[in-house]
Amino acid sequence: MRKAQALAMAAAAIVGLGAAMWSSAQESSGSAAVLGGKLPDGYRDWKLISVAHEEGSLNDIRAILGNEIAVKAYREGTLPFPDGAIIARIAWAYVPSEENNKAFGRTQSFVAGHPTNVQFMVKHSREYASTGGWGFAQFNDGAPSHVTATACYACHVPVKDRDFVFTRYSP
Ligand code: HEC
Repeated sequence: MRKAQALAMAAAAIVGLGAAMWSSAQESSGSAAVLGGKLPDGYRDWKLISVAHEEGSLNDIRAILGNEIAVKAYREGTLPFPDGAIIARIAWAYVPSEENNKAFGRTQSFVAGHPTNVQFMVKHSREYASTGGWGFAQFNDGAPSHVTATACYACHVPVKDRDFVFTRYSP
């Protein structure tokens, strides 16, 4: 093994260890702890905030939903979001629809295929203070995933000015 490569691997191991220690300190804001480790009742009926489509390895189509507190804050432009606000991100595989294409007479239609996973951001400024006041949770087939809240939070930091929330309200 070349020296540079060995050094890079050692550095990666140290960073990994650091991340593991950090994330164990963050468990209270992660999937297993947030929402009691369960999908909240009725989330599928929450109001629509917006939609998005990701390409690449995700290749999904997603809807962002909010509970009453979150939607009220969005509509009134309240930042930071008040405690009790919950934002859900539900997603499905992005698949072509032959049936729709036939009706259109050309290839243009994509629809929601099988569901992928569900993510939540749950606002509690004191409890989740170390991750921007948000608890982060992901559910795969209804069960909490092992993704740590720190990993979620780190990627949401660029939109700190909007209380760590990317999605804008679609009127
Ligand atoms: C690699 C960066 C990245 C990571 C990691 C990430 N997110 Fe996000 N998240 C985004 C982006 C960008 C959006 C907005 C675009 C979209 O929905 O595709 C988003 C949107 C969301 C939304 C909708 C509200 C909003 O901020 O727009 C929720 C809820 C959410 N993410 C939860 C999570 C959870 C829970 C995790 C960890 C399990 C996570 N995210 C990890 C980048 C990330």
